[in-house]
Amino acid sequence: MRQVHSQVTKMGKSRFPVLILGETGTGKEVVARAIHNTEARGPFVVVDCSSLVGPLMESELFGYAKGAFTGAHNQKLGLLDAANGGTAFFDEIGELPMEMQMKLLRVLQEKEFRAVGGLAQRSSNFRVIAATNRDLAKEVEAGRFRQDLFYRLNVMRLRLPALRDRREDIPQLVSHFLSRYGNDHRLSTDALDNLRDYEWPGNIRELEHTVQQIVAMNSGPWITPADLPSTLVNMSAEREFIATGGLASLGISSSPGGGGSGIIPLADVEKRAILDAISYTKGDRTVAAAMLGIGRTTLYRKLKEYGL
Ligand SMILES: Nc1ncnc2c1ncn2[C@@H]1O[C@H](COP(=O)(O)OP(=O)(O)OP(=O)(O)O)[C@@H](O)[C@H]1O
Ligand SMILES: [Mg+2]
Repeated sequence: MRQVHSQVTKMGKSRFPVLILGETGTGKEVVARAIHNTEARGPFVVVDCSSLVGPLMESELFGYAKGAFTGAHNQKLGLLDAANGGTAFFDEIGELPMEMQMKLLRVLQEKEFRAVGGLAQRSSNFRVIAATNRDLAKEVEAGRFRQDLFYRLNVMRLRLPALRDRREDIPQLVSHFLSRYGNDHRLSTDALDNLRDYEWPGNIRELEHTVQQIVAMNSGPWITPADLPSTLVNMSAEREFIATGGLASLGISSSPGGGGSGIIPLADVEKRAILDAISYTKGDRTVAAAMLGIGRTTLYRKLKEYGL
């Protein structure tokens, strides 16, 4: 993280594009803002590539002209106009649909674009920072991400480590979050060990939520392993269980299900896992998706599919 820190300062002084890579919750947006704030120039505008799709995204990005479509009574400026003089942060760039990738590439090359339904070329001068939790090089290989756009974004690259790869930072992060959310709460050595051993699929965000949960559920001051959210402890127990051979090691072929066969339909298992993750994260779908090991978009699709 010290290296990340010094890179942030260096990158902050230049205006070249930066590509930030890292799992969900590793602090990509925090780092993007830090780069921007090194020499705070103009606005920092977030473009969430995962939430905007199709024609809507185009008008969000480029704005639209008066009369461009039914209901467009006045012209509207887009996010790229808003970023003029500052930074445009393309979050979840890996989710950008192919046709939008082409349009974005053109904007980055020409520094000019046209509003939806507009004729005049508009220009906006902004620094580009993009972030993704996908392996973009692999996406390029698979033909899901344009190589030319990848090259253009990948001028300077910053990779944020997963929390489980820097467990030695966990105590300090915990005390940081305790001082922010806590009320003289303190963790026993055992409890801290528990946090250090956990895998943290949702990384710093999950750690932050866990500390909030601990503070909300316990008046303190001392927190022992028994006071930790049960899922956290259950999950490490479950992992151990799987590691030691799971049900088979107990001589059980599977849990009882419908139809007398003992087989549980895969869809039920999946539904159950999704509901558990959503309830554990108190509805935070980003972390829930990370815990389930699937993308946020996939989670949304499955929620819809199952009518959840
Ligand atoms: N170094 C840090 N110190 C303290 N808090 C941090 C740090 N890095 C990240 N956080 C906190 O962790 C949470 C997640 O950070 P952020 O939103 O930047 O992650 P992200 O990588 O963009 O995640 P996602 O891929 O899910 O969008 C935020 O609440 C942020 O404040
Ligand atoms: Mg983010």
